[in-house]
Amino acid sequence: MCGIIAYVGTRPCAQLLIDGLRKLEYRGYDSAGVAVHNGKEITVRRAAGKLSTLQDLVDREPVAGTVGIGHTRWATHGPPSERNAHPHVSGRVAVVHNGIIENHVELKHKLTSLGRVFTSDTDTEIVAHLVDMAMGRGLSLVEAVRDSLRELRGAYAIAVLAKDDPTTIVVAKHASPLVLALADGAVLAASDVPAILAHTREVVFLEDGEIATLTQSGAKLETVSGEAVVREPTTIRWSLVQAERGGYKHFMLKEIHEQPRAIEDTLRGRVQLETGSCIADEIGIAEPEARAIQRVVLLACGTSFHAAMYGRYLIEQLARVPAVVDLASEFRYREPVVAPGDLVIAVSQSGETADTLAALKEAKRQGARVLAVVNVQGSAIARAADGVLYTHAGPEIGVASTKCFTAQLAAMALVSVHIGRARGALSESRAKELLEELVRVPEKMRAALEQDAAVQLISRELVSAQNALFLGRGVSCPVALEGALKLKEISYVHAEGYAGGEMKHGPLALVDRSMPVVCLLPDDPSLEKMLSNVQEVRARDGRVLAIVNDPACATALAQWSITVPKTAPEFSPLVTTIPLQLLSYHVADQRGTDVDQPRNLAKTVTVE
Ligand code: G6P
Repeated sequence: MCGIIAYVGTRPCAQLLIDGLRKLEYRGYDSAGVAVHNGKEITVRRAAGKLSTLQDLVDREPVAGTVGIGHTRWATHGPPSERNAHPHVSGRVAVVHNGIIENHVELKHKLTSLGRVFTSDTDTEIVAHLVDMAMGRGLSLVEAVRDSLRELRGAYAIAVLAKDDPTTIVVAKHASPLVLALADGAVLAASDVPAILAHTREVVFLEDGEIATLTQSGAKLETVSGEAVVREPTTIRWSLVQAERGGYKHFMLKEIHEQPRAIEDTLRGRVQLETGSCIADEIGIAEPEARAIQRVVLLACGTSFHAAMYGRYLIEQLARVPAVVDLASEFRYREPVVAPGDLVIAVSQSGETADTLAALKEAKRQGARVLAVVNVQGSAIARAADGVLYTHAGPEIGVASTKCFTAQLAAMALVSVHIGRARGALSESRAKELLEELVRVPEKMRAALEQDAAVQLISRELVSAQNALFLGRGVSCPVALEGALKLKEISYVHAEGYAGGEMKHGPLALVDRSMPVVCLLPDDPSLEKMLSNVQEVRARDGRVLAIVNDPACATALAQWSITVPKTAPEFSPLVTTIPLQLLSYHVADQRGTDVDQPRNLAKTVTVE
């Protein structure tokens, strides 16, 4: 996830672009850059690191011009560095891009064979080459962009500036956000409203498949196929502070609602439905390596540990390899036995957690191959591992992890299907069925998010609870643990997650009228057993909140229920997690805690 901005107007724009990027830094902050046209030529300034580094550079080496584009990056292709920072330039053209070009490998190959020389590791540079080549054939800037877009698959919001056309910027969007702002004597475009609120409150949101030509006199909006689009501007009524959270009261709530997009981005370009295969090249575990795996060891901390637990269930189920999961902090200190036939998977949002990093190094020292599943490109864990599978959830600001958790679950599903296929444990037809269902999951998550108001109502009844229990079986067990962790982290209500089968071995002693028990009841083979657990709780007067696919299965027993769409049992955690996140959010919000920065905690724990 990155932030882009474009300006066409009468004011010197380099500083104005940087000021806009500052409001987009939440989208990524590993490198940044601007390209400004002074009427004769385009000047580019780029810098690795935070925006302040670019600011220092532009202060030292100012850039003149009233037409320009800017970018703040969250690396997806290629490490954060000056050469990979945007804008990317090819010949007469400079481009900034937010999103992922899925067919970049194929296009890069084609362009290289045509003699184009690449100077970065990014997918974005392809767009610069395509537009430059099209302009070389005599097309105008807008025609050249239109022509190039036909070649691209994936997600993009782009802004393109050309040396031959000093008064125009062309922007386009598909599956990544883009908003236009019509100010006095100027037009802007940006990834999000905060970047343009200093200029105007009148904005036009672009839809997928639209392209806009920005000049000082306004914006011409069309579809990519050339039909004119007329859209009335929307007046923004949020304050700047709210706008940075996209209108949500907290980053956590915004991030909960971003999950369908985070999963789509994590799956994008990694699933081949025609062949039932996924991610092979990326993680460097081809068929011979997959067949040689004797055991999978998953290591993580906190929320990532729950994703790793889910990974264990799925790897054993789909790939038929023995799998164990361990807290990184325990693993590293208990003289673990690791063998060269072990595949170790380190799961981490930040890629910097000290215990996970140390555990990974210990496993490597003992000869295991290590795969990292991380969200932050170029982080220490990504660098130390033999292979990396990035989750593309985008930067997560709320300390309590939400969208990174579900993106990790999606990554675990990819790893399991991949190893299962490579070892022959999964047939092609079963793999296809699973992957087809996996790509439908984001839609089901959207439907689950529509239960927000219903969850909020229920949360009012739980706000004064002192304790809560969360129960689930099979793949729902890690969901129960994560639900309990979420509630205690941000609302400070004491909560425990248990495997349904363990309830009789202790937690049942705690159940009485004052104990809410959240039960995960997706339609899977353990449903009947879970319904028995619900009976046992009810028999002790406990109050049950049931998360169900079929409302009928809970009506007689549960005080409250939330219905979410059914998916394959293997993937139900991606959907059933959502009401639990919303529950903890609303309980915490009503209790007045600091939701985004809960007391005593930190987002990245770089101490052991
Ligand atoms: C901290 C964060 C948690 C996170 C855990 C592991 O405790 O507050 O949200 O799950 O660290 O972090 P990692 O970055 O390795 O996933």
